[in-house]
Amino acid sequence: MALLDILSYPDKFLTKKAKPVTNIDGAIQKTIDDMIETMYNAPGIGLASIQIGCDKSIIVYDLSYGENEGSLQVFLNPKIIETCGETVSENEGCLSVPDFRSDVKRSASVIIEALDREGKPLKIEAKEYHAIVLQHEIDHLNGILFINRVSALKRELYKRHIKKQIKQDDK
Ligand code: NI
Repeated sequence: MALLDILSYPDKFLTKKAKPVTNIDGAIQKTIDDMIETMYNAPGIGLASIQIGCDKSIIVYDLSYGENEGSLQVFLNPKIIETCGETVSENEGCLSVPDFRSDVKRSASVIIEALDREGKPLKIEAKEYHAIVLQHEIDHLNGILFINRVSALKRELYKRHIKKQIKQDDK
């Protein structure tokens, strides 16, 4: 297994849409394993393929940060097929958006369809925090960062902060 670099805003790749995985081969299994290791190492609660520069549709997440065996999830080609209600995720953050946290409006529950890493189709209903994580990670596969879901003012302030930082790094 290998640790992968996590792309961060404003990397253009983060705005790309992932393509469906059509052939679950050894290369895909290796990417999945590397993503899992990279997520735990960060540490993060979830990681989407787009964040590590791969445009195949894959997400991995573990709501327990690796504390509970069996809570690791790997989904290929996940799609939200139904949403219900509204909630606000408090202090949402993202490995690709450093130094920024914000409340984000999200659906309260979602039903998703996906394949597991063996290619078996599955359908799950997720609520509350689980639903928020799924929406966040599936957004990545559609080229959407959570800063696209906060107020224009907050986003502008963050963009300025990042621009300043890039200038400082160039010095
Ligand atoms: Ni993220």
